[in-house]
Amino acid sequence: MSEPKPKVVLGVSGGIAAYKACELLRRLTESGHDVRVVPTASALHFVGAATWSALSGNPVSDQVWEDVHEVPHVRIGQAADLVVVAPCTADMLAKAAHGLADDLLTNTLLTARCPVVFAPAMHTEMWEHPATRENVATLRRRGAVVIEPAVGRLTGVDTGKGRLPDPAEIFEVCRRVLARGAAEPDLAGRHVVVSAGGTREPLDPVRYLGNRSSGKQGYALARTAAARGARVTLVEANTGMPDPAGVDVVRVGTALQLREAVLKAAADADVVVMAAAVADFRPAAYAEGKIKKREGEEPAPVALVRNPDVLAELSADRARPGQVVVGFAAETDDVLANGRDKLRRKGCDLLVVNEVGERRTFGSEENEAVVLGSDGTETPVPHGPKEDLADTVWDLVVPRLP
Ligand code: CTP
Repeated sequence: MSEPKPKVVLGVSGGIAAYKACELLRRLTESGHDVRVVPTASALHFVGAATWSALSGNPVSDQVWEDVHEVPHVRIGQAADLVVVAPCTADMLAKAAHGLADDLLTNTLLTARCPVVFAPAMHTEMWEHPATRENVATLRRRGAVVIEPAVGRLTGVDTGKGRLPDPAEIFEVCRRVLARGAAEPDLAGRHVVVSAGGTREPLDPVRYLGNRSSGKQGYALARTAAARGARVTLVEANTGMPDPAGVDVVRVGTALQLREAVLKAAADADVVVMAAAVADFRPAAYAEGKIKKREGEEPAPVALVRNPDVLAELSADRARPGQVVVGFAAETDDVLANGRDKLRRKGCDLLVVNEVGERRTFGSEENEAVVLGSDGTETPVPHGPKEDLADTVWDLVVPRLP
């Protein structure tokens, strides 16, 4: 017999971003979830019940008065494995925070005993209003995952924080939260900083020294931390990937820029994870104009200078007492011995050691590693998705937090 499909309630409240929830719904149903859409009456002004019903294959209502004999206002919440409200308006956040129950969605939120994810979307002023801030804090304290809105174009000509994140990224958060089942969002209230990607050190306006890091492991760390309730700052270098939902992304190019951005974000961070491949050296000189080849002349050698070691600096000079610092080590030979040595030299709390090479790790969706602890622990992580390794890292970080 096949496994029953996980039951997801997709709550949709009345914002223009309601149309984006159709894409989230499609992703959820296509990946094998049984989705019940519960729109509010105002959401139905933006997208009609016929669309939700056709896309979900389930009946759709905003009322507690329909199908009363089936007690839907109680049953839908009780049966759910996950409730996600996307978009979630300021009004819906307020109702959820105060336990109001005047329609099917708010009733469902009160009867649900499963993880709940809110993806707010509203104008910046509404998001920043102290009332909304307090409502978000209340919901987070109770264990809900509230995804930070994205920054960008809002309704009309306004831009700012308040956009609904990309539905594909909200889907990733849902997938991670569902995978964790009843586990608490154990990074709630924590600020984590993750660096990802590979730095590029320019030689001239068109050329650089770079490396083959894709940034996927760093992105997996950022996504999983957000799904565990953390406020996440992702310092990314040259990945070209879309912003994960609920994550503040700072874009950098070079090692020096990465250092500045990481140190700034680390000032109030509980955890810093250095997953980026930071260039150890940069060209000593930068040519303002493109370097030209000249007939009959040998190319000039490229002189290099050392870049600062950000991980060693963070570890030696913690911005906060008890801040947990995690490094990565990419090794081709003597993987464990080099890893232990690097852990000591860099002074971090945890070092994720993985073997790299032509066909391993770079750009792939999977990874295999050993996580070494400064307390002598060794945690092997079998070959699997980069998100599983990311969750193991957070599992090891959480008990080390003060
Ligand atoms: N790192 C850093 N700053 C640098 C170089 C590396 O913060 N200038 C960090 C990386 O983000 C990673 C860790 O250090 O978390 C290990 O990087 P790795 O390249 O494996 O180590 P190296 O210091 O380059 O050591 P070696 O080249 O001797 O292997």
